[in-house]
Amino acid sequence: MCGIVGYVGDRDATEVLIKGLKRLEYRGYDSAGIALIDGKLIVQKGKGKVINLEKGSKKNNLSGKLGIGHTRWATHGEPNDVNSHPHLSETGKIAVVHNGIIENYNTLKKQLIERGRTFQSQTDTEIIAQLIEEIYTKSKGVTFEQAIRLALKQIVGTYGLAILNIETPDKIYIARKGSPLLLGVGENEMFIASDASPIVEYTNKVVYLDDGEMAIVTRSNYEVKTIDDSPLTKEVHELAISLDAIEKAGYPHFMLKEIFEQPRSIADCMRGRIDVENSSILLGGIEDVIDDLVNAKRIVIAACGTSWHSALVGEYLFEQLAKTPVEVEYASEFRYRDPLIGKGDVLLVISQSGETADTLAALREAQEKGALVLGICNVVGSTISRETDAGVFTHAGPEIGVASTKAFTAQVVVLIMMALELGQRKGLISSDEMKRYIAELSRIPAKVEHILEHSDDTIKKMASLFTYAPNFLYLGRSYSFPVALEGALKLKEISYIHAEGYPAAEMKHGPIALIDEMMPVVVIAATDHTNDKMVSNIEEVKARKGRLIAIINDENTEVKDLADFCVSIPNTIDCFSPLLTVIPLQLLSYYIAVNRGCNVDQPRNLAKSVTVE
Ligand code: UD1
Ligand code: GLU
Ligand code: MG
Repeated sequence: MCGIVGYVGDRDATEVLIKGLKRLEYRGYDSAGIALIDGKLIVQKGKGKVINLEKGSKKNNLSGKLGIGHTRWATHGEPNDVNSHPHLSETGKIAVVHNGIIENYNTLKKQLIERGRTFQSQTDTEIIAQLIEEIYTKSKGVTFEQAIRLALKQIVGTYGLAILNIETPDKIYIARKGSPLLLGVGENEMFIASDASPIVEYTNKVVYLDDGEMAIVTRSNYEVKTIDDSPLTKEVHELAISLDAIEKAGYPHFMLKEIFEQPRSIADCMRGRIDVENSSILLGGIEDVIDDLVNAKRIVIAACGTSWHSALVGEYLFEQLAKTPVEVEYASEFRYRDPLIGKGDVLLVISQSGETADTLAALREAQEKGALVLGICNVVGSTISRETDAGVFTHAGPEIGVASTKAFTAQVVVLIMMALELGQRKGLISSDEMKRYIAELSRIPAKVEHILEHSDDTIKKMASLFTYAPNFLYLGRSYSFPVALEGALKLKEISYIHAEGYPAAEMKHGPIALIDEMMPVVVIAATDHTNDKMVSNIEEVKARKGRLIAIINDENTEVKDLADFCVSIPNTIDCFSPLLTVIPLQLLSYYIAVNRGCNVDQPRNLAKSVTVE
């Protein structure tokens, strides 16, 4: 999820690696480390900033002409010194840095422990070093490169990898599946990086590795092949973009990059947790408390901002799928009104950063009163994730744009998985239904991709027509109501346009007075069971000359004929629809804000993580 650098050549590798890691700092990370080969294999690593790593390596006088480095954004095991990369094999001869998640790491770890290996860290990454060594030392006639290939065959998940072996002191081995990796080609020197930012100052010649490919890199040569050992001739590209553009992966803003990352972040969130073949869900983080959750009298969900909107989706999900009563609270209100909560209740708190002050206070209040407290957080090692009794990490990767996008969809994915697991354990979901749910859930990333591909242009055009609208109304029913709130919040946050989200039927009880030819109304009409009702609401808007933007699904032709503008999205099961309907709304707010010249990534008056009350 974070950054990799590597170097081999005549320069001081420590300097190149540390400078490179600093270039990757914009992504946000929790620890950093390097490994060098200089006669022996040397590792310097630890929790915290690259500057600490730099101080440490100066103090220890590290030198070498070949090395790899890493900035970590923890997914497995809290951010501490031991869990920092590089990770070593048991003998200390092999060093590995890794971006991504190894899904079957627990199974592999158990097997390796049975064979007598001992592990130092809680990470998924350490098994890579250990597995390669196990194969290399225990199988006759296997070269180190073959051992890497054999190990990668056993690994399920995503990786960008750089590997060193003290026995091959002139080589860096790299491999990619699902996590970007590229090679910078210099004169008698080679660079490795997870994006081009660490290497632009040295070379503009790059080779991009594709999924399923590996390379063996020396100072004067590189050999790219598939991990099945078929040689490849790769094109050498010329880099011609600015550093700023590279950091944002070519997108003009982090927010847009993060919107477009959602097919991937949603898949990462489900990785290792849903099993399509066996139609089952296993959330390891709540396994120990699942009985308490099944027996809970009710669940209270407390959160702030966007997380509060995913909490509302959660309420609908838990009540529909698991028949557990749910109340959703603003964390700030919950903490100050002496809430009725105690033994037998569950408080679920949701926070991207895991540091939100009001949410943390709500958690402590409920814990004091004897409730079981669970969390949904994006940042491993964050305060909320540590203080909750159990919980689930969203694994959406670092979110840098202040307006939350991919963290929202990942939170909803976790809530869906929790509700399904709970419903199944309570005997409320038949195995046929579960099969249908899981199959559809696994199709969501592709559907999000489809929306991003097909509606981006339409929304851009729509945005230019509404750039100067002073107000917006967002309407939805059922699962689309929280999405209406989230759409309105996105617009407010980054474009500073006043926007309100409403349950569609509530419009008649007040907001309808606001509607005239100046008022754009966004209706989210992509769920099946509320469609007829939405059509009546749409007629009411039209009768008052409101300008109507509709988010509909492919089959919804009735609304299509009524709306001034339509964004059509693929069909899905109603309770999964927020994952799709929110995407066009994120894009709409983004393009309107850009047209208005707003600072999209750092909107005025807002902070990414609200750590004050
Ligand atoms: C966890 C481990 C993973 C291991 C897997 C299998 C981490 C981050 N994840 O993944 O290394 O492979 O078990 O055993 O180390 N938690 C909270 N509050 C929160 C979020 C999480 O207390 O807000 C706790 C969970 O209860 C759990 C741990 O943090 O104990 C990790 O959560 P999560 O990553 O979601 O669990 P797994 O996916 O099972
Ligand atoms: N899954 C690995 C870990 O938690 C790598 C995380 C990353 O990509 O930084 O250590
Ligand atoms: Mg309720």
